[in-house]
This record gives sequence, C-alpha cells and structure tokens, in this order.
Amino acid sequence: MKAKAIVIIIFFIAGFYGCRNKSSNNKQAENQNFLVTESLKNRIIREGKNISQSTVSVFQKHLKQAINAGGIDSAINYCHSKAMFLTDSLSGVYSVKIKRMAKKNRNPFNFLDKQGEKVYNEYQKELASAQPLKPKILINEKGNPVYYAPIRLGKDVCLKCHGTPKKEITEKRMILLKKYYPEDKAVNFKKGDLRGVWAITFDKASLEKKN
Ligand code: HEC
Repeated sequence: MKAKAIVIIIFFIAGFYGCRNKSSNNKQAENQNFLVTESLKNRIIREGKNISQSTVSVFQKHLKQAINAGGIDSAINYCHSKAMFLTDSLSGVYSVKIKRMAKKNRNPFNFLDKQGEKVYNEYQKELASAQPLKPKILINEKGNPVYYAPIRLGKDVCLKCHGTPKKEITEKRMILLKKYYPEDKAVNFKKGDLRGVWAITFDKASLEKKN
C-alpha cells in the first residue's frame, strides 16, 4: 500500500515536471519563431546602434557642458541627477527601454540582470581572446527582443571618474562619488576595459505592427 502511494507520488511529480518542461519548450519555440526573420534581426541591430549612439551623444554633450561650466567634480553632480532621467526620457522617445548595465556598477539601478550577465561574460571572454565584440540579440522572459552591445572605456576622460583612486580620481572626487554612490564599484578600470553593456529592450507587439 505504502509502495503504491510512493509510486503514485513519483508519477505525479514526474508529470508535473514534464508539463513544466513542455510549456517552457513551447515558449522558447514561440520566442524563436518571432526572431527567425533575418530582416527583423537586422532592423533591431540597426535601431539598437542608432539609439545607443544617440544616447552617447546626448550624454557627451551634457557631460562636456558640465565639465566646461564647473570642472569634473561638478559633472559628477550632473551625472548623479541627470543620467537616469536622460535614459528614461530617451526610452520614451524611441519606444524602447534603454539601460546601461555593469558588473561593477556605480548606480545601484544599473546592475546586471541574469541575461545581461551572460552577455557581459561572453564579451569578457571575447575581449580576452581578441575577438571582435559584436551586438547580440537575446529574447527576455517576456518574449521581447533585447539588443546588447559592449560599452568600453575608450577615452582618457572616462578614467577621471572610473580609473584608479588617488591616481586618476582625485581624493576630493572620491569623497564626492562616495557621497552620492556609497556602494560604488565602478573604479579601478583601465583604458580599453569592458565597462558594461547596453541593453535596449524592444517591444515585440510594436515591432510586429511595424513589420
Ligand atoms: C564626471 C565623471 C564621469 C566621467 C568623466 C565618466 N563617468 Fe561614467 N558615470 C559617472 C557617474 C556619476 C555615473 C552614475 C550615473 C547614474 O547615476 O546613473 C556613471 C555611470 C556610468 C555607466 C553606467 C553603469 C554604472 O556603473 O552605473 C557607464 C556604462 C559609464 N558611466 C561609462 C562611462 C564611460 C565609457 C565614460 C567615458 C566616455 C564615462 N563613464 C565617463 C561619472 C562619470
């Protein structure tokens, strides 16, 4: 009797997991179907590049103005109050969700989620083996395509706020950074390092509509 009950329980559990696997497989197949067209992939890459480049130029324009107006330290004030606001408002302009994600993040909101971390680790490996870092498209858990691209520390100016404390980042600036970002991990970078990734989430429904 006891053995029978155990067998029934095992069947029940196996059935349950079977169902779960099946439904997640179906979901995956559905998601992949959505991205089969090469033209859609190319369009996401094209739009993703445009959006990230426009965001960079808006950032750079404001950063330059802030540095010219009051030096690097006042630019930190500016970044602190405006960076998230800028990405959010540009997200609205392009009907996408624009994020910068980093493993060693400064703003706690810019953490790597699970999928972002996978992409980031791939880029790190590719960088270490001197492969080109190309944009990648992955589907998130809601079935929406996400455009990823690497963010490298390409300019000397970046090191003034993300380089070595006491060397490239003055002590005064470190104090300022700690004030705004007590959990700051975004220091000790070298020129050329992978700083993070762009993650631009497109809306599946509006992409299908435009298609
Ligand atoms: C004036 C100081 C300053 C300079 C110069 C600077 N940054 Fe930053 N950076 C910041 C601050 C402050 C933040 C946090 C912004 C926020 O609150 O969203 C930040 C955030 C970031 C993030 C988002 C991820 C995170 O850690 O929060 C990336 C990516 C980044 N910076 C890359 C760069 C690159 C690349 C350059 C050079 C082109 C650069 N930064 C130059 C101060 C600076």
